[in-house]
Amino acid sequence: DDPAADPFELAAQAAAQLADRTGVERHDLALTLGSGWAKAADLVGETTATIPASEIVGFSKPALAGHVGTLRSVLLPSGKRALVIGARTHFYEGHGVRRVVHSVRTAAATGATTMILTNGAGGVRPEWAPGTPVLISDHINLTASSPLEGATFIDLTDLYSLRLRTVARQVDPSLDEGVYVQFRGPHYETPAEVQMAKRIGGDIVGMSTALEAIAARQAGMEVFGMSLITNAAAGISGDALSHEEVLQAGRDAEQRISELLARIVAEL
Ligand code: 6GU
Repeated sequence: DDPAADPFELAAQAAAQLADRTGVERHDLALTLGSGWAKAADLVGETTATIPASEIVGFSKPALAGHVGTLRSVLLPSGKRALVIGARTHFYEGHGVRRVVHSVRTAAATGATTMILTNGAGGVRPEWAPGTPVLISDHINLTASSPLEGATFIDLTDLYSLRLRTVARQVDPSLDEGVYVQFRGPHYETPAEVQMAKRIGGDIVGMSTALEAIAARQAGMEVFGMSLITNAAAGISGDALSHEEVLQAGRDAEQRISELLARIVAEL
């Protein structure tokens, strides 16, 4: 958290520790498993090392039940190596944006060139029932923050790779896609804020992913994003939101969407 410290140097240190602890010098891709997606860690391949994230420099203890708090090295059937990140720091935890994107920068420092970001989120479109997986086609960052510091002007066109979305659609042609709106949270939006999100082009509301995607692009990675719609956003269905119901929707969908993600990862 030292402002004089270089976040990329910290990520390089974390990657060196991971290489040491996993015995794997290089990972090809990384997956961040958000709420509802944890099972994918077991389905994408064979885990050869599991490390509590808090033992790696720059990672915090998990703030939330339902977030597993581990980093795994997984050997995919293709022979590729995946770093599976079950430890996400959310912006609303208040540790600053550097901490939020540290896992992504660490993944890049391990060699990963593809970043797969998943989350559980609210749906703005009424036709998306809880349990619907949706591809992220673009985002709107309403956090008033950026992981970039100083005069770092990077292009975010096609941030969520069209190529990877096309691969996903070949696996499941029924997949819808939408624009993800990252709010700071941790409260859910008001119905008026959800209407705003809709009118500015948003389809999905959540509290993660956009800042991480920006950091992944800065690191030169190709980004793939997927949301599990755990509930209708406030004011969309008329039901009130409860964190417990959000978690339950994630648990109910977990096996099915994790299998889908594993099939997609096998094709990437
Ligand atoms: Cl409705 N909003 C946000 N920001 N995050 C969520 C959500 C809603 N439902 C699950 N996660």
